[in-house]
Amino acid sequence: MHLLSTRHISSTWQLESLFYKAEKLRDGKEQKQSARGRVLAVVKDEGSTRTRVSFEVAMKRLGGDVVLLELDKNSSAVKGETLEDTIKTISQYADAIVLRHSRKGAVQRAAEVSAVPVINAGDGDGEHPTQAILDAYTIWRRFRRMDDLSVMLVGDLKSSRTVHSLLHLLALYKNKDIHLVSPKELYLPDEYHNLLRRNCVNITHDYELDVALEKYGKGLDVLYMTRFQKERYEGVHEMSRMAGIEPTYYKLDAKCVGLLRGDTAVMHPLPRNGEIPVEFDKDSRAVYFDQVKNGMYIRMVLLDNLFSGNSFFAV
Ligand code: NCD
Repeated sequence: MHLLSTRHISSTWQLESLFYKAEKLRDGKEQKQSARGRVLAVVKDEGSTRTRVSFEVAMKRLGGDVVLLELDKNSSAVKGETLEDTIKTISQYADAIVLRHSRKGAVQRAAEVSAVPVINAGDGDGEHPTQAILDAYTIWRRFRRMDDLSVMLVGDLKSSRTVHSLLHLLALYKNKDIHLVSPKELYLPDEYHNLLRRNCVNITHDYELDVALEKYGKGLDVLYMTRFQKERYEGVHEMSRMAGIEPTYYKLDAKCVGLLRGDTAVMHPLPRNGEIPVEFDKDSRAVYFDQVKNGMYIRMVLLDNLFSGNSFFAV
């Protein structure tokens, strides 16, 4: 009933059926109005541009309506209301809840008390399943396959929830190379590393982007960049441990671009903090604004499945 993690997508067919449906919506062959008379509540306690707006637009394109609740000084959170009570309240009004929260696990807590389906729109350094589905859709549109790919994931692999969710989807497929590039302080959590190992993926790890691209750049299908998630590091100890990282954080400079294959898909969930220069946007390998657009179609598919009485991943 809820959409909390991509680990609940258990087959390639479940995933790819979302892509086929998104293709139909995009070419206008299907005009869905399944959300007519329904209200989606978008609840959030941290910034969101793409996720929030694409969910809103998706809901409106399906004929539905949206309300937004920001858990800040304008909500009862400031009066000490618990997340659970807020969600119990909102679920009396709305037909589904999209929740973005700064704490990992908060969306799970919300789902436990909600009377209506809850969609995880990013929970702290946990997961961001709808972003991962749109990322996978972007890869699939580009290569028409999701297996036998060589993928490089770059940056804050410790706290990038989009990477965590994407790894569950990549692990559904066989014969991939996964090249991880991060400082050791931002290494991929064990849980995800083990997931990759269990699924017999070839995994490499490097600290420098240019070094990794010299080794693997010419065989690379996907280069997935992420920003440094500095808002996840709190407390004096963590802050000082991370302080040295930002100035040397990864950038796709001219040297790195030169090491890439001619048809590598360069991806980023956005927002970017200088990881990819604006000048690269015109390059045919830049697909991050395709990701943005694909997000609207994927969210339409997910909401349509929900409001048509199917589970999120039904065909
Ligand atoms: C990502 C997120 O919120 O996790 N953004 C997004 O939803 N497109 C990535 C990020 O904030 O770095």
